Amino acid sequence: MFKSRSNYVKKPKWDTASKIESRLYGVVNPYREITGRSSLPAGKQYWTMCGAHYEATDDGIQAASGEMGQIVDSGLITLNQWRGIDRELVVIENNRKLYPEARWLCGDFKEQLAQACIRGEFNPGIINYDGVMGPKFGLAYLRSIMLLLDANVTGELFLSANFVLRSPYRKDLSFDPMKVVSTFVDKHYMVPDHWTIVPKFWHYRGGASKGSPTRMGTFIFLKKPHSGMSRFTPGRNVLDDKMPDNVQKTVVQGV
Ligand SMILES: C[S@@+](CC[C@H](N)C(=O)[O-])C[C@H]1O[C@@H](n2cnc3c(N)ncnc32)[C@H](O)[C@@H]1O
Repeated sequence: MFKSRSNYVKKPKWDTASKIESRLYGVVNPYREITGRSSLPAGKQYWTMCGAHYEATDDGIQAASGEMGQIVDSGLITLNQWRGIDRELVVIENNRKLYPEARWLCGDFKEQLAQACIRGEFNPGIINYDGVMGPKFGLAYLRSIMLLLDANVTGELFLSANFVLRSPYRKDLSFDPMKVVSTFVDKHYMVPDHWTIVPKFWHYRGGASKGSPTRMGTFIFLKKPHSGMSRFTPGRNVLDDKMPDNVQKTVVQGV
């Protein structure tokens, strides 16, 4: 099993103000504005890289609201629609201990999506790819998720993807969102007709500390229902420039 020594495993903190805002502006609000629905239809699932739903203290672990609490409290989903995946066994074990009524799966994100397909239990309406990768590896990973979705999901789908766009430790990162999008389209993924990319994005401070110089960026992809076959129209504009104004206003914000 994957074992990292990262701070987000040893001292997880996902109830920070910036993380709460990022879920609101990166998932809850755009889903509602784009689809016109206030909540995910019954039977559809919300899949996410969940992270820890607790804080580690000297006395052990203390339950935190986390993504699940926020997304359920917002009314976007009900608890039975939640599917939380993490590759860190300790994270999943602790989450399960604190919230045994919720679904927690341990393993690689894409692998767990694939396993759910094989079991015939995959009916996603929202996918939150919330890793801690820069665009270089993150875009390749995103491509592999989208290929899996192309072949296995025929219905409408909202996909939110988060990347590290600036970090004091990484000189190679690009903070230009349009450059990230064009790299994805030019080098990684030939976008089939059933996907559009929302051309605006939300960026926020990563890291637990208030003054953290790390910047995260959220990109949104929308899949229309399709037959399961990927079709490509040459020269098609993959950026959806027909989004309602309020989507763009909501998504273009800064820290
Ligand atoms: C940014 S945190 C998730 C935060 C959470 N979505 C929230 O809103 O609070 C990223 C989590 O994804 C996990 N992770 C990163 N890459 C993964 C992968 N390929 N498969 C499964 N989990 C992964 C990490 O262990 C970490 O706990």
